[in-house]
Amino acid sequence: MIIRPVPFAAVAFVCTNKRPDGHPKPCCADRGGLALRDELKKMVAERGLDSRVKVYQSGCLGGCEFGPMAMTFPDGRLQFGVSAADLPAMLDALAAEAADNAE
Ligand code: FES
Repeated sequence: MIIRPVPFAAVAFVCTNKRPDGHPKPCCADRGGLALRDELKKMVAERGLDSRVKVYQSGCLGGCEFGPMAMTFPDGRLQFGVSAADLPAMLDALAAEAADNAE
């Protein structure tokens, strides 16, 4: 095993989990998770934060009924019912965390 420090000061995981059609539980893929991930990645690039803030897609974060979900670090927040309108504030918080961690 090789261990290295995480190369990003702030990270967002956006759930893009997809369940089979007809599955009794909802999934974030069917609620726009992929588009949210893509939009947040685009916003990070547009603000020149690529080297400090990383956006990952994730599997189920456990709040399917309240999705789409995201989880951010280092603030350690689970965010439920995320919409495109929430992304600017999410990115502002990530950028602030990244700036704090740069000190
Ligand atoms: S499928 Fe996204 S939180 Fe479960």
